[in-house]
Amino acid sequence: MSLAAEFDTWQNDYTAKILRWVPHYRKLINSLADELPAGFQPSRILDLGCGNGNATALLVERFPEAKITLLDASPEMLEACKQRFNNRPDFEYVQAYFQDAHFDEGSFDLIVAAFALHHLDQTEKQAIFKKMSSWLNIGGILSSSDLHASKKESDYQQRVLDPWETFAKSQGTLNSEWDELMAHHAQYDKPDNYEDQFAWLAQAGFKHSRIAWQAAHFGNFQAQR
Ligand SMILES: C[S@@+](CC[C@H](N)C(=O)[O-])C[C@H]1O[C@@H](n2cnc3c(N)ncnc32)[C@H](O)[C@@H]1O
Repeated sequence: MSLAAEFDTWQNDYTAKILRWVPHYRKLINSLADELPAGFQPSRILDLGCGNGNATALLVERFPEAKITLLDASPEMLEACKQRFNNRPDFEYVQAYFQDAHFDEGSFDLIVAAFALHHLDQTEKQAIFKKMSSWLNIGGILSSSDLHASKKESDYQQRVLDPWETFAKSQGTLNSEWDELMAHHAQYDKPDNYEDQFAWLAQAGFKHSRIAWQAAHFGNFQAQR
């Protein structure tokens, strides 16, 4: 199944599921804006991999004057956003894979990516970092909340998956649902650690990258152009 079709099937009860599945989900969404430098006021924002709009809702609240572009490969997710935000005329909706997306240079002051970049492999991350660097103004910021650990690490099972399973099951995730999530994780998730991503961000032209908030391997990083 394509990634877009996979997320189409998740659209219906996405927020309830993600709250059961991802430790600190609300905090990680809020950190997209909370951890920005004081006084940073973006007027043009891209929500990359918007899903059903949980990060977008935060952006609307924090930056009510900003023009927001919502991009996702899943038509069902974009449709959910259109309904949630009453088809706001100042929003732009783009149905595309990150790999195919194009915007003019300097189109945005802020790009947020919430649980989105881990769907790209290493080569694709390096390519999108270069594209995002060109899409941002000088001084613009990429704020990404995600899982930051590499599946290649030898202790991935013990350090990442075991505590994750404990969390998910403590929130009511059934064994069958955990198995479904792990099948998704095996097929669609390609997380990388901070160190590699910060090196690729520097190569892409970002001047400063930092971990802004983290709890174990889930965290928010910010990179400034
Ligand atoms: C895990 S969800 C996160 C949604 C939302 N940002 C949130 O934090 O709740 C990932 C979203 O990114 C989209 N996505 C993942 N990889 C993508 C890609 N390569 N191109 C376009 N959209 C992608 C999926 O369709 C899905 O809606």
